Amino acid sequence: MILPNMPVLCCLLLGLASVAFADPIVSIPNGELQGLQLQSPELNEFYAFLGVPYGQPPIGDLRFESPQPALPWNGTLDATQERDGCLPLSNYSFYPNPGPKSEDCLYLNIYTPQLNQSANLPVMFWIFGGGFVGGSKDYRYFGPQFLLVNDVIVVTINHRLGPFGFLSTADNVILGNMGLKDQNLALQWVQSNIKYFGGDPQKVTVFGESSGGQSTGLHILSKKSRGLFRAAICQSGCSITDGFQPDPKTYAYAVAQQIDETITEKNSSLELKNFLLKQPAETLVIAAKAVGTSGIRPVLEVEDDEAFLTQPFYALVEAGDINPVALIVGATSEEALGFIGNEDQLAGVAEGYDEDWSTLVPRHLRPIEGSNLTEIGELIKNTYVGVNGTFADDLVATLEYYSDNINVKAAIKMAQLHSAFNPAYLFQFSFYGSKAQGHYNIEGGGKAGHFDDVPYVFNMTTYPLVTDADDLCRKQISRLWTNFAKTLNPTPAGDELLQNVIWSPVTPDNIQYLDIDDTLEVKPNRKVKEYATWNYVYDTYATKPIITF
Ligand SMILES: *[C@@H]1O[C@H](CO)[C@@H](O)[C@H](O)[C@H]1NC(C)=O
Ligand SMILES: *[C@@H]1O[C@H](CO)[C@@H](O)[C@H](O)[C@H]1NC(C)=O
Ligand SMILES: *[C@@H]1O[C@H](CO)[C@@H](O)[C@H](O)[C@H]1NC(C)=O
Ligand SMILES: *[C@@H]1O[C@H](CO)[C@@H](O)[C@H](O)[C@H]1NC(C)=O
Ligand SMILES: *[C@@H]1O[C@H](CO)[C@@H](O)[C@H](O)[C@H]1NC(C)=O
Ligand SMILES: *[C@@H]1O[C@H](CO)[C@@H](O)[C@H](O)[C@H]1NC(C)=O
Ligand SMILES: *[C@@H]1O[C@H](CO)[C@@H](O)[C@H](O)[C@H]1NC(C)=O
Repeated sequence: MILPNMPVLCCLLLGLASVAFADPIVSIPNGELQGLQLQSPELNEFYAFLGVPYGQPPIGDLRFESPQPALPWNGTLDATQERDGCLPLSNYSFYPNPGPKSEDCLYLNIYTPQLNQSANLPVMFWIFGGGFVGGSKDYRYFGPQFLLVNDVIVVTINHRLGPFGFLSTADNVILGNMGLKDQNLALQWVQSNIKYFGGDPQKVTVFGESSGGQSTGLHILSKKSRGLFRAAICQSGCSITDGFQPDPKTYAYAVAQQIDETITEKNSSLELKNFLLKQPAETLVIAAKAVGTSGIRPVLEVEDDEAFLTQPFYALVEAGDINPVALIVGATSEEALGFIGNEDQLAGVAEGYDEDWSTLVPRHLRPIEGSNLTEIGELIKNTYVGVNGTFADDLVATLEYYSDNINVKAAIKMAQLHSAFNPAYLFQFSFYGSKAQGHYNIEGGGKAGHFDDVPYVFNMTTYPLVTDADDLCRKQISRLWTNFAKTLNPTPAGDELLQNVIWSPVTPDNIQYLDIDDTLEVKPNRKVKEYATWNYVYDTYATKPIITF
C-alpha cells in the first residue's frame, strides 16, 4: 500500500480519539514509512507506525513454510492503518469486532514516544494471547500509552494462527511451529530496524500473555532466538505450560480427511501437503475447526536447519540449556475464572471431578505404563479437598485446582528452574478491579481470572479502566514492567508509586512472589502443599523426559 501524496485521514477510520498532526516519516533499509502522530493525556505526543511488513506474505507455495523476510519497496509505505490480521479459528469475545483477516498478515506495529535515532530506548515486544488460534496485534486492543509514558518503545506483532501457524506432519515436509518462526522473524526485524525509531536493539524485552506468554517462554528455549532479546515477561503462560501437540501428524491427517475423506495415513505427507496447498484458506479454517482448536499447539519438530524447537521443553529448562535472559513469570490469582463461564458450570466441573478422580490427572502428564490414574487422581483430590471432602462442597478448592493445573503450577516451576541459571521474578496478579468485576467469583476464592491483567498493561479500548484503584494498578504494573525492560530489575530503587516495595528474584529454595493487588506486597509461596503434591506426581508418574508441567 504505497501512499499518494496526501494528508492523513486514517485516524477517523481507526476510531482514534486523538488527531494526527505532523506526518512522521522514518526510513528503514526496506524503504520509507509514513506513520501517525498521536496524543495522549499523559504523553505530549507519540508516534505510531501500523501494519509494517516484516515478512513476505506467507501465501501460495509459502503456506506452511518458514517466513521469508519482507522485500523492499519504492516510494512511501502507508503505515497509518492496520493491515489484515491472521486468519483465526476462534473469534474471542475479548477481541470483539475483529477487522479483516487473511493469510497475508505478517505485519507489526511500532509505537515510540520520540523520533530520535540517538534516544536508544528499551524495546518491549508484545505477543498477544488467544490459544494460537485467535487474536491480533491491533491498536484498539493493545494501546501502548501506559508503557510509553515510561519512555520505552512498544512493538506488537501478528503471527500465523491455526493450521497456517501450527500444522505439522511430524517430519520435514511440514515442520510445524510456523507461527513461532514468524515471531522470531519479527524479533530479527527489530534487531535490524528498531534503531531507526529510536530503539536500542541490545535492550529488547519479549512479553506476552497466555499463548503469547507461552510463545515468549519458547523463545527462551530456541537457539534461533538467541541474542535477539535480553529479558522476558510471561503472563499466564510459559514454555512449560500445558500447551503442546504430542501427535501433530494425526491432527494434520484428520484436517485433510475433513476435506477429502479418501485421504488416509497411507498417503505420503508430501501428498498431504500438496493437497492442503491447493485448498482455499477458508476451507482449511473450517476443517481445522471441525477437528478441534485444541489440536493447534507448538510441536517438537524433527531435526532440520529450519527447526525452531526439537527438544522437550521442560528438560531444556531444567538443564539450563536456554538463552540467558532475565525473567518475570506469573499468573492471576484465579486463572479458572477466565475459563469456566459461571457458577453453574463450575458446579458441573466439581461434580465431574468427584465422579471420576482420574479426570484430575493432567492430560499431558503422559503417565508411565501401568499407572493407576484413579490413584494419582486421589492424591491430587486429597491435597485440594482433604480425604473426606468433595469438590462439589468446595467450589473454592475447585477453582484453585483448575487454576493451578492450567497455569499456576507451571509458573512456579518455571521461576524455580529458571532461577538456578538466571534471575527469575515471580508474581501473582490478584487485583479485583473493573475488569475482574465483569465476571463472577466465589466467596473466599481469588477474584482475578485469566486475562484480567492485560487491560492494566495495555490501554484496551474494549476494557476501559474506570476507578482510581484501576488507575493506580495500571501505573504500578507499567512501572514494574518498564523498569525491568530498562534495568532487568522491576524495583531498582525505592519508588513511592511502587509503595517502596523491593521485589527480589526467586531462588531455588525461596519461592517468594510479588502479589499485585490493591497494594504491592512480597509474600512466601502460598502453594507449598499443592506444589509438593504436583512435584511428587510428576517425579513419580510422568514419562521422562517431562515436556510440560
Ligand atoms: C486510552 O485509550 C483511549 C481511547 O483510545 C484514550 O481516550 C485514552 O486517553 C487512553 N489513555 C491513556 C492514558 O492514554
Ligand atoms: C523500484 O524502482 C526501480 C527503478 O524504477 C525498479 O527497478 C525496481 O524494480 C522497483 N522496485 C520495486 C520493489 O518496485
Ligand atoms: C469471525 O468473525 C468474522 C466476522 O464476523 C467472520 O467472518 C468469521 O467467519 C469468524 N471466524 C470464525 C473462525 O468464526
Ligand atoms: C536525542 O536523544 C539524545 C540521547 O538521549 C539526546 O542527547 C538528544 O538531546 C535527543 N535529541 C532531541 C532532539 O531530543
Ligand atoms: C491418496 O492415495 C491414494 C492411493 O494411493 C491416491 O489414489 C490418492 O490420489 C491420494 N490422495 C491425494 C490427495 O494425493
Ligand atoms: C486404582 O486405584 C483405585 C483407587 O485407589 C482402586 O480402587 C482401583 O482398584 C485401582 N485399579 C486398579 C486396576 O488397580
Ligand atoms: C474422615 O472421616 C472418617 C470417618 O468419619 C474419620 O474417622 C476421619 O478422622 C476423617 N479424616 C479427616 C482427615 O478428617
